[in-house]
Amino acid sequence: MTTLVTGGAGYIGAHTVRELRARGREVVVLDTLERGNEESVVDAKLIVGDIVDERLVTKICNKYEITEVVHFAAYKAVGESMTHPMMYWRNNVAGTISLLNTLIGQGVLRFVFSSSAAVYGTPKTSPVTESEPLAPESVYAETKLAVEKILASLSTNGMRSVSLRYFNAAGASSDNRIGEDWLTSENLVPRVMRALLDKSFQLEVFGNDYPTPDGSCIRDYIHVEDLALAHVKALEYLERGGETFVCNVGTGLGTSVFQMLDIATQVAQCSVPHTIGARRDGDPVSVYADPTLVRSVLDWKATHDLRSIVESAWNWHRTHPNGYR
Ligand SMILES: NC(=O)c1ccc[n+]([C@@H]2O[C@H](COP(=O)([O-])OP(=O)(O)OC[C@H]3O[C@@H](n4cnc5c(N)ncnc54)[C@H](O)[C@@H]3O)[C@@H](O)[C@H]2O)c1
Repeated sequence: MTTLVTGGAGYIGAHTVRELRARGREVVVLDTLERGNEESVVDAKLIVGDIVDERLVTKICNKYEITEVVHFAAYKAVGESMTHPMMYWRNNVAGTISLLNTLIGQGVLRFVFSSSAAVYGTPKTSPVTESEPLAPESVYAETKLAVEKILASLSTNGMRSVSLRYFNAAGASSDNRIGEDWLTSENLVPRVMRALLDKSFQLEVFGNDYPTPDGSCIRDYIHVEDLALAHVKALEYLERGGETFVCNVGTGLGTSVFQMLDIATQVAQCSVPHTIGARRDGDPVSVYADPTLVRSVLDWKATHDLRSIVESAWNWHRTHPNGYR
């Protein structure tokens, strides 16, 4: 019984591979490495290749006796998805269709998918439950929703899946071995770390006049190791015979940008240089998860607090200012 992890050389995939290996599972990673790092794949076989390569995926399924898949491989930059939409439809949707088709042909019928809270667009209220209307506001988010819909339609093929709608993944591994690359991430935590460590970089806070207690936007930050564990729980659920389902993966806590800067200041013992910029189009005021469903169905709950996220990120970035290079 071997788990195939697509995109396992990327940020969340690499942490998940380690969690799977720590639990004694056999793991094979398939990654093009175009946005991932060979060095981040610790203790698992890495095969460099594309999910659309049917012959390769078939060969992997047979050679390693793949029984289930965790599918991270995708592009994830919202802005890029708006300027290069076909790239996103091709890789995130057509690529996933090709992968699913090959897997079904090989009888691999358990699938965990990296979806995103971006499918909600600007939710009316937070905490956001799974019954919130789906209103993606970018091509990226549309591609995630499209794959969720494809997966929902595959029960006739025997495919069972869990789509995990991640909120904001952040932090690095507790042993400081793997982490996020600030050059390839637009997320707040790596940008805060870069502002602390790279004098040539200026952090811009997008808006300080939102209707929140301190005027900045509120998001739900989840430690990447907690997120990795959610995938193990999802695989266990499918192994128990669980049916296809979709859930949020977040902490249920909202943190503002300025709260994040305060914690980073405490951890680094140095204030975070930043400027205040204009609001960004389409940035919702406040988005954090209602994690009731993931708790009850997958028995998963976040264990790391915000300080642990920031400390792990700080340790990683100050010791790896050039990422894996
Ligand atoms: N980082 C977040 O906060 C976040 C939030 C919501 C959803 N997600 C989703 O989670 C998944 C993983 O995110 P991440 O932050 O680890 O991204 P990442 O870019 O670090 O990792 C993605 C990996 O997939 C690989 N890849 C891309 N296309 C491929 C293909 N066709 N075949 C094989 N490999 C391919 C890349 O080389 C990369 O290593 C993505 O699907 C992303 O959309 C991430």
